[in-house]
Amino acid sequence: MTRQVLTLPGDGIGQEIVAEATKVLDALRADFGLDITLEQGLIGGAAYDARGVPLPEETLEQARASAGILLGAVGGPQYDKLERPLRPERGLLAIRSELGLFGNLRPAILYPQLAESSALKPDVVAGLDIMIVRELTGGIYFGEPRGIRTLENGERQGYNTLVYSESEIERIGRLAFETARKRDKRLCSVDKANVLEVTELWREVMDRLSADYPDVELSHMYVDNAAMQLVRTPKQFDVIVTGNMFGDILSDCAAMLTGSIGMLPSASLDEEGRGMYEPVHGSAPDIAGQDLANPLATILSVAMMLRYSLGEAAHAERVQRAVGRVLDQGLRTPDIHTGDTRRVGTREMGDAVVAALYD
Ligand code: IPM
Ligand code: MG
Repeated sequence: MTRQVLTLPGDGIGQEIVAEATKVLDALRADFGLDITLEQGLIGGAAYDARGVPLPEETLEQARASAGILLGAVGGPQYDKLERPLRPERGLLAIRSELGLFGNLRPAILYPQLAESSALKPDVVAGLDIMIVRELTGGIYFGEPRGIRTLENGERQGYNTLVYSESEIERIGRLAFETARKRDKRLCSVDKANVLEVTELWREVMDRLSADYPDVELSHMYVDNAAMQLVRTPKQFDVIVTGNMFGDILSDCAAMLTGSIGMLPSASLDEEGRGMYEPVHGSAPDIAGQDLANPLATILSVAMMLRYSLGEAAHAERVQRAVGRVLDQGLRTPDIHTGDTRRVGTREMGDAVVAALYD
C-alpha cells in the first residue's frame, strides 16, 4: 500500500527548508523506489493567513490519513499581536495534542566535521551522542487553569498549572527506557523533585518503572544541575527523560553543544509509533526568504521519519550518509560556517544532499 506523507512547511524559514527536504523525498521516490505519496498542508501563520485559524480541520484530517508528517516551523512577529488562540504556536501545540504525539525524541549528535562550530572545546564534545526524550502533550504547556486575571486590588496576575498524572509519566517513562535499551542503556530522569510535588511523583514513577528494565541504569538529576552538567561534561549522558518545559529548554541547550541548532532533527510519536518530524529550531523570521537557513535538520528529520514511521531504514541511512558527505565536502550554511569551509545557501545545500544520495 502506498503511504501518504504530509508536509507542513508553516512559517518563516519553514517554507525554504521543507522545500529542500521535499527534493530529497522526491529523489528517493523517483530513483530509489521509495513508495510514498506526498501531500502538503497548512499550519501556523500560513494557515491563519489562508483560513483564519492556525490549525484548520482539513490539516488534521490530512494528518490523520498520513503515515508520517514533516513539519517546518511556525511563528513570526506579524502574528504576535493576535489573540492567543489564533497564534501560530497554538497550531503546533494543538496538532501535537490532537494526534496524541506525547513522545518527543530529540537527538543531539555532534558531527565530527563540525567539532569546530561548537561553543565548547572540541574534546568536551567530540563523539557526543545524547537523546533527549521530552514529554510533549502534558505538563505546564497544557495544564488548566491558565490565563491572565485581574485581582481584587486591580493588579493583573498570570498563572499556569503544572500537572502530570501517573499514566502520563509512565507512558513517557516506558518510551525512554525502551529508547535507552537500544542505546547505551543509561537513562537520566530530570526533575525538580526538591521543590515541585509533580516531579516528586515523576521520580517515584520512574523508580517503579525501572524494575521492568533491569538492564537500563536509571539515575535522577535536578534540572538546574542537568543544565550545568550538559555544558560541563555532556558526554556523561546517554538518554535524558523529562517533562515538557524542562525538555524544551534542555534540548535547545543540548543542540548548541553540537555547533548549531540548524543540525538537529526531532520525532514526535504517538502510542503506535506514528509521528510528526520537525527540526528542533524555529521559524527564524530574521533570516527567512534569504537563502540563509540550514536545511539539514529538516533533511535529517526526513531520515528519522523514514526510520521510525515508515520502516524504511535503508532509505534513512542513505539520507544520513548523504548529509555526512556534504559535510565532508566542506559545504556549510552560515550557521555552521567556519574558516576554510565553503559557505553555501539553503538551496545549494539541499541540491548537494540530493546529489550525494547517488554517490
Ligand atoms: C519547540 C518550540 C515550541 C515548544 C514552540 C514553538 C511552541 O520551542 O518545539 O521546542 O515550546 O514546544
Ligand atoms: Mg523549543
